[in-house]
Amino acid sequence: MKPNVRPANPNFSSGPCTKRPGWSPAVLDNALVGRSHRAAPGKAKLGEVIARSRALLGLPDDYRLAIVPASDTGAMEIALWNLLGPRGVDLLAWESFGADWVTDTVDQLRIHDSRIISADYGDLPDLGRVDFARDVVFVWNGTTSGVRVPHGDWIARERAGLTICDATSAIFAMDLPWDRIDVATYSWQKVLGGEGAHGMLVLSPRAVERIEGHRPAWPLPKLFRLAKDGTVNAGVFRGETLNTPSMLCVEDALDSLVWAESVGGLGGLIDRSEANLAAIAAWVDGSAWARFLARDPATRSCTSICLSLDSPWFRGLATDDQAAAVKRLVALLDGEGVAHDIGAYRAAPPGLRIWGGSTVETSDIKALLPWLDWAYDRVVEGNP
Ligand SMILES: Cc1ncc(COP(=O)(O)O)c(C=O)c1O
Repeated sequence: MKPNVRPANPNFSSGPCTKRPGWSPAVLDNALVGRSHRAAPGKAKLGEVIARSRALLGLPDDYRLAIVPASDTGAMEIALWNLLGPRGVDLLAWESFGADWVTDTVDQLRIHDSRIISADYGDLPDLGRVDFARDVVFVWNGTTSGVRVPHGDWIARERAGLTICDATSAIFAMDLPWDRIDVATYSWQKVLGGEGAHGMLVLSPRAVERIEGHRPAWPLPKLFRLAKDGTVNAGVFRGETLNTPSMLCVEDALDSLVWAESVGGLGGLIDRSEANLAAIAAWVDGSAWARFLARDPATRSCTSICLSLDSPWFRGLATDDQAAAVKRLVALLDGEGVAHDIGAYRAAPPGLRIWGGSTVETSDIKALLPWLDWAYDRVVEGNP
């Protein structure tokens, strides 16, 4: 039987993620379009994004925050290109985005003293192997495996190297211990449901010190240059962006931040996301065919919630047929208009990835779950 309740909002994509409840294009009415981002009102809007973000995140006063080009990838590559070189690097990788930063560091920047500490989809690598005398690059939440680091206790508070954290699918939905993070990056298109193309870069005082004291051995394109003659560009942390931002996206980011404040700030955002994970976990507990890809419950992501199919029928299929079966299941749900974009990431094992970030309503997650059973049964019957 088809369930008779549908999610009010079927958008469960892991990026761009669903807009906040109640969003409409009218929130952009006051966007400063057709004006210079360097004029006083433009700078004020950009400065407001930075100020509201800092306050929501509880950033320490001496940490800096900048809006940079090219989304989270831009922010991470700006960090890697400006900071790496003086020390060996420990690279943690347990899914495809962590692996991307390995490629940047090893193949592009050619840091020879690199150690790759990796694990397969579903697991975390051995965090005890990390040496904090070295620089450390890691993703807080592995968006494509749904495996997150459960806390920051494994990161040395006293350390000589820098900790560089891609936090894009964690920030605003998970608590980040700022005293253990020197660099964090994210984009607007994830937990707050903003738009792509703009990145955010958090720098600790030690990260700024590194930028000022170290001249990278490689060229830095203008888009990546955070310092001039050994002095960091202070304007970029006040909203004087490296190049032209979209003022429509800026307006949208402001709307998402005001909404975030209205649901209780960071604590409220985290609670919303954890409630989504809890709803799915309760369903998985009783499921005859679904399990978490994350093996250790403590590492289950509350944002990119990745599920594997696990039943005698599914295990009996050849690998290609398993992938085809999941595709059919995802297409059925998409066709019914109950869940868009919930297939696993292309490089991940076949399965489902349901975004449970803070803009997703738990009532929509709960409405989706019976549909997953319905679609699974249709696929098993071979009668999609
Ligand atoms: C962990 C992680 N890093 C990097 C990216 C790339 O982000 P963007 O496309 O915003 O640059 C993503 C996108 O999903 C991500 O989840």
